[in-house]
Amino acid sequence: MPEVLYRRLDELSDAEVYEAYEPPEPDWLRVNFVASADGAATLGGLSGPLSGAADKRVFKALRARCDVLVAGSGTVLAERYRELRLSRERVRWRLERGLPEVPVMAVLSRSAGLDPDAPLFTEAPRRPIVICSGASSEDQMASLREVADVIAVGAGAIDYRAALAALRERGLRQVLCEGGPTVLGHLIAEDMVDELDVTVSPMLVGAGPIRIAEGPASEAARRMRLHHVFEAEGNLILRYLRGSSND
Ligand SMILES: NC(=O)c1ccc[n+]([C@@H]2O[C@H](COP(=O)([O-])OP(=O)(O)OC[C@H]3O[C@@H](n4cnc5c(N)ncnc54)[C@H](OP(=O)(O)O)[C@@H]3O)[C@@H](O)[C@H]2O)c1
Repeated sequence: MPEVLYRRLDELSDAEVYEAYEPPEPDWLRVNFVASADGAATLGGLSGPLSGAADKRVFKALRARCDVLVAGSGTVLAERYRELRLSRERVRWRLERGLPEVPVMAVLSRSAGLDPDAPLFTEAPRRPIVICSGASSEDQMASLREVADVIAVGAGAIDYRAALAALRERGLRQVLCEGGPTVLGHLIAEDMVDELDVTVSPMLVGAGPIRIAEGPASEAARRMRLHHVFEAEGNLILRYLRGSSND
């Protein structure tokens, strides 16, 4: 078993944080979440109150590392996602590695029920992608095609495997998914998660809020391998990787 790395986050340089999240393979799907110590994914309907400076630091480093940032429509609306922008330092980090200035933003919506006039589309520095099911309304897809590439996969529901294949065909191989729980539920059910990055926030939220994975019950429970634990102000910042058959 490879050793688990335990560190205090504030002792790590930005370069060390980037290094700690080096993807093991060129095609990689990582998901990033924050949860309370008692397992809630939201407080007051949002993830923000569970997060803090330490979680945000890793969140931003992960954004800087990916080719495409994927989020579900529920998350984009609740968390008021805008166009994807990175700080000057993070843009420089990407350019030094031959990457485009910013990742592509992709929104998952089964119905393609998204507003094409939203800043996420109109202000985007790179043309975004909408991933929807083939059952989405033609009119809705046509209006989104004005501002985004539309990938329609699956009849009725989104075909997540076909969606990932379509992203890879476009050269978008390092995928960061920021949720939400419905999307993660589907990704786990399809056994597609290569990495789960989760910050456990030192809060008790109590009963009520959703977990980080929601939707239909899944039979795809799988063991993950803990890669590292960073501690910061009582938060545990955990990186779990898909285990190999030898683990
Ligand atoms: N703790 C965290 O780190 C974290 C991270 C992200 C989000 N969140 C929180 O999670 C919440 C949003 O998550 P979410 O799970 O509602 O949305 P989501 O996973 O972001 O997106 C929902 C996706 O599932 C589809 N969908 C909706 N209902 C469905 C159903 N019954 N069966 C199959 N697909 C369905 C939607 O399509 P349509 O567009 O057609 O509806 C959309 O594609 C917000 O409160 C947000 O703050 C927390």
